[in-house]
Amino acid sequence: MLTLAVLISGAGSNLRALLEATHEADFPARVIVVGADRQADGFAHAEAFGIPTLLVPFHDFESREEWGAELHAQLSVWQPDLLVLSGLMRLLPAPFVDAWAPRIINTHPAYLPEFPGAHGVRDALAAGVDQTGASVIVVDGGVDTGPILAQERVAVLPGDTEHTLHDRIKPVERRLLIDVVRRIAQGDLDLSAAAPTASSR
Ligand code: GRF
Repeated sequence: MLTLAVLISGAGSNLRALLEATHEADFPARVIVVGADRQADGFAHAEAFGIPTLLVPFHDFESREEWGAELHAQLSVWQPDLLVLSGLMRLLPAPFVDAWAPRIINTHPAYLPEFPGAHGVRDALAAGVDQTGASVIVVDGGVDTGPILAQERVAVLPGDTEHTLHDRIKPVERRLLIDVVRRIAQGDLDLSAAAPTASSR
């Protein structure tokens, strides 16, 4: 059974989908802890499923590195096999990434390498493209630059706002994420083969 720690910042709708999928008896992975950098609404989903939560408030620390060190220490207690970033709106410091690589994956609401960063949906709309997408990647030292594990196109429709477009992308993100987690758990997807090791970056 693959054990997962999921990190969130917001509503946690993707977390909810992952909790529902992993709750099925025949799913080969389980969420064992949910963490956040702030008091995230998504904690309610963890609580509904009886999953422990850990809060490491970013603003309680003097630097990103100190915050990352505390997050690393708290996650290490749980010894998860895989970290899933599901709407965590913080860059993880390099020592944190190095400690967990390649066992960190992230979902992103765009067809990477198009539109990386915190505003992938807004940036796609601003660029006037007629399609964007969703991606699941391995986290490396860059911003949404890691190896792509799965991705799918989503059409931009006339009259789309950031909200309506993101609402159509999120179900695709969820489906891709659940599929990637299942494939990793079944041994069909090898993250060490997909991602460079910390020392080779
Ligand atoms: C997702 O689109 C994620 O990729 C992005 O923020 C959204 C998270 O939404 N970074 P939620 O918190 O799962 O509802």
